[in-house]
Amino acid sequence: MMVPVQERLRVDIERWVAKNGQDRSSLIPVLQEVQKKYGRISEYAMQVIGDQLGIHPVEVHGVVSFYSFLKESHKGRFDVRLCRTISCDMAGRDRVARQLENELGIGFGETTPDGRFSLEWANCLGMCDQGPALLVNEHVFTRVTPEKVHDILAQFKKMMDVNVFQQVEEH
Ligand code: FES
Repeated sequence: MMVPVQERLRVDIERWVAKNGQDRSSLIPVLQEVQKKYGRISEYAMQVIGDQLGIHPVEVHGVVSFYSFLKESHKGRFDVRLCRTISCDMAGRDRVARQLENELGIGFGETTPDGRFSLEWANCLGMCDQGPALLVNEHVFTRVTPEKVHDILAQFKKMMDVNVFQQVEEH
């Protein structure tokens, strides 16, 4: 018996929510999974994700439109985006922003000379109660402090070193 696509989508979303945790910070990872498997994020998917994570559909829409813009604008290998919307602003995003600039040696809107990191602003990522929120490609970090910035970036630098050999082989 064929399972209707919506049913399959719902089951998949439930699985991804279970894997990532039934929490707002799962919004982007789950959207990424849907995009990867289904090639798009339908209205129905947004509805189910919103229901599962307790996020208003309007908010899910906002994040999806921001996310589609993200996909087209990947510049550095790691796209670092700090939310600049009001809740994160009040939660201390300026100090985090300065620390990101110091650590990466670039300003917002720029890419490191080695092409590894680009630094950009983001609009609300739907994690307003856990700000400041930071997105590095599909990885979401919440309650980011200047002290945490170094460790977060170090994870990605390490990831890159591990992948270097693989990349050389691919090219
Ligand atoms: S204001 Fe930053 S995640 Fe919503």
